[in-house]
Amino acid sequence: MQTERIILRPWLDSDAGALFKYASDPEVGPRAGWPPHKSVEESLEIIRTVFKDATNTWAIVLKETGEAIGAMGYGPSCQCNLPAREGEPLIGYWVGRPYWNQGICTEALRLMLDHIRRTTDIKSLISGHFIDNPASGRVMEKCGFVPTGETVVDPEQGKDTPIRVLRLEL
Ligand SMILES: CC(C)(COP(=O)(O)OP(=O)(O)OC[C@H]1O[C@@H](n2cnc3c(N)ncnc32)[C@H](O)[C@@H]1OP(=O)(O)O)[C@@H](O)C(=O)NCCC(=O)NCCS
Repeated sequence: MQTERIILRPWLDSDAGALFKYASDPEVGPRAGWPPHKSVEESLEIIRTVFKDATNTWAIVLKETGEAIGAMGYGPSCQCNLPAREGEPLIGYWVGRPYWNQGICTEALRLMLDHIRRTTDIKSLISGHFIDNPASGRVMEKCGFVPTGETVVDPEQGKDTPIRVLRLEL
């Protein structure tokens, strides 16, 4: 999947250095509920486990540099209390901080949504973002997601980090 400036492709072991560079940033993972990566070895392990399913998890690669600068994916709903319908997948994404606010995540999410519409019979997708991370909500809204009006708390994150829930009917 590609646009003029990005490609979505499966993760490769050789992306470990780039993944560590961006995912070790304390401003990235914690906003999505995961801790910053601590070593290139950990990043490689993530590529081989969390990112291994090439049917629903992609690296966001900048064509200009060939570097993986973020992640985009969907999958079974997490254990984070989102009020998902039965079998409704959750989407997730992040982009390295140097590339924020350039429309890259929105572009990547649109690519994935086109792919899901073309290749699956998924009827709806759910996601959520921490209330204090409005940029993520904007990305979803720009792609057609609508707030459900619900707010939930992820038990692993603590009661002071409510999550605003959004859904896209496909
Ligand atoms: C959220 C994230 C993926 C956005 O990526 P991105 O490539 O910068 O997103 P885009 O440029 O496509 O869109 C960002 C939108 O948020 C808006 N935005 C940025 N900061 C904002 C703020 N503090 N308040 C409100 N809107 C904000 C931007 O203006 C833009 O909207 P616009 O096009 O209407 O102007 C990126 O910031 C990130 O990776 N954050 C850390 C991880 C994370 O939060 N992942 C999602 C977990 S739910």
